[in-house]
Amino acid sequence: MKRIQCIAIFALLFSLNLVELNAAEVDQTVNNRYCNTCHGADGRGNFGIQAPRLAGMESWYLRRQLENFREGIRGVHPQDIEGVAMRPMATKLSDESITDIIEWVESWEYVPAEKTIEGNERAGAQLYTQCASCHGVNAEGNEALGAPALSGQNDWYLVTQLKNFREGWRGSDPQDSFGQQMMMMTQALSDDEAINNVVSYINSLRRNL
Ligand code: HEC
Ligand code: HEC
Repeated sequence: MKRIQCIAIFALLFSLNLVELNAAEVDQTVNNRYCNTCHGADGRGNFGIQAPRLAGMESWYLRRQLENFREGIRGVHPQDIEGVAMRPMATKLSDESITDIIEWVESWEYVPAEKTIEGNERAGAQLYTQCASCHGVNAEGNEALGAPALSGQNDWYLVTQLKNFREGWRGSDPQDSFGQQMMMMTQALSDDEAINNVVSYINSLRRNL
């Protein structure tokens, strides 16, 4: 419950701030560079808000997720608390400000996230063989298949997303063809332990940027 309150309060404070900002400086709304408020300094991710690392994120994936949030393809299921908190941040964005944000994010330093999840890495490696065909053997991502890099991302965020896909809180929108593919793949992960195992293996992989 604490986490939910924390995100809700942050979202509220944030939107109040933006109202002031709009009145004072209209031009500011073209850029909409307010992401670090939740996503942490240099976009390194923020566990308290459950907002993941953005630094180092592929521009095509960043664009797709912002569009999905904006169009209501992601972040609408009532059980998807964090996605619901993120969505209003994207509904404000024009195509122009998305392009601006992508350029801005590309300028941030990429620092791999700290490891916080414990699991059986060997069991995880076995599970990961099913993921590698799309996400790459080093979890470096594959643009042609639309599968993002996983290595270097906050492990707690990967765990949440795998659970969200498994429950159908993310990826069940008929327009979300990439999310639907990923939703099917969570059938390979039988329980929470399997999720922790595969994420602990992903933690052991290195992504060179
Ligand atoms: C009020 C806090 C808040 C603000 C401000 C915010 N975000 Fe988020 N964002 C979140 C949370 C929480 C999540 C995790 C959503 C989830 O778990 O599905 C998230 C998720 C995301 C994701 C999905 C990442 C992925 O790997 O799929 C992207 C992309 C994103 N945010 C980009 C942005 C950008 C760009 C901005 C600035 C325009 C921004 N966010 C501003 C809270 C915020
Ligand atoms: C058929 C190809 C495919 C396979 C196999 C696959 N994925 Fe994915 N995965 C995707 C796609 C495509 C996305 C992007 C979904 C979107 O755009 O919302 C994704 C997204 C994800 C995300 C969310 C990342 C983020 O930043 O929000 C996680 C976590 C993930 N996959 C983990 C896994 C794991 C673990 C496995 C193996 C059990 C796996 N995937 C197997 C295609 C695949």
